[in-house]
Amino acid sequence: MKIAILPGDGIGPEIVAEAVKVLNVLDLPFETETALVGGCAYDAYGHPLPDATLKLAQDADATLFGAVGDWKYDTLDRPLRPEQAILGLRKNLGLFANFRPAICYPQLVDASSLKRELVAGLDILIIRELTGDIYFGQPRGRRIATDGHFPGAEEAFDTMRYSRPEIERIAHVAFQAARKRKAAGGEGRVTSVDKANVLETFQLWKDVVTEIGQQYPDIALDHMYVDNAAMQLVKAPKKFDVVVTGNMFGDILSDAAAMLTGSIGMLPSASLNSKGQGLYEPSHGSAPDIAGKGVANPLATILSAAMMLRFSLNQPEAAARIEKAVDQVLTLGLRTPDIYSEGTKRVGTVEMGDAVVKALVG
Ligand code: IPM
Ligand code: MG
Repeated sequence: MKIAILPGDGIGPEIVAEAVKVLNVLDLPFETETALVGGCAYDAYGHPLPDATLKLAQDADATLFGAVGDWKYDTLDRPLRPEQAILGLRKNLGLFANFRPAICYPQLVDASSLKRELVAGLDILIIRELTGDIYFGQPRGRRIATDGHFPGAEEAFDTMRYSRPEIERIAHVAFQAARKRKAAGGEGRVTSVDKANVLETFQLWKDVVTEIGQQYPDIALDHMYVDNAAMQLVKAPKKFDVVVTGNMFGDILSDAAAMLTGSIGMLPSASLNSKGQGLYEPSHGSAPDIAGKGVANPLATILSAAMMLRFSLNQPEAAARIEKAVDQVLTLGLRTPDIYSEGTKRVGTVEMGDAVVKALVG
């Protein structure tokens, strides 16, 4: 088994180092190879996703990714900005299925910005389509408008589009995930989030998800407009089971869902292609404001490593061990600043990683 390690920028290297530490004590047969990605790769090689980094990820069974981006790159031409590295990896590896589980650990109910009773016991799964939609749709660009409200003015445009097969495959992923969760005691329901009341793209989305749903009579399907879904996520989040949506709505809703768990520092993610190859990353960004301070929460990355063991490396027991160890350190009361609340013990990135290792090796 080969794991590509791409720490990236900002807090990326700090949190990935903790996840690697955790993986290393499990004594599993894997090799790792590390490469630069994002702003640091631009600095070293003039490109955020150098060919060698892309090839490393393509040849690996799985990629563990930290985060990319820093304000200092915001003025570069778009193709050279750090974010293009993660978008390029998603596109080139065909990582269309993004899993973002939002679980509120009982120990963290008071870290959430929502009332305890709204989030206690929360366990929902957001499935975000990751290689289509307005993120990748062509054409896009800037030009002088020839029509619209201000002909002759500079304008910019992006294209929202989805094809039937793109929707079909992500719908299957969602229904199968709901089925798996149902077998483990879940409700067995998919909520498809769209904007079919306004957008053609999402009318097709809704039609196709409905059709695919007929192949899963054991799974309930409902549809929700994205604005209502945003409201329901903060009003009654536990009413959701599996949420499936497009790339852009999924980006926004998964950040909102992250806060239900107490902190975006707790939310792991898996991005899979049709071959089971995956990229695993925390759902949060590079947080340049706290980079190098040793205060970032490594748990989302450690939990992403657990997802990697389960989804791409066929090591479900090792994955469960990591998840249990995370649960234990939270029970011990250890908290990075983002999840700190009165009466708990404030720790830094390395201490948190060490505590997980300690919980694992006993
Ligand atoms: C995410 C991030 C990325 C996205 C950025 C860094 C391009 O916000 O993974 O949610 O928009 O998909
Ligand atoms: Mg995002």
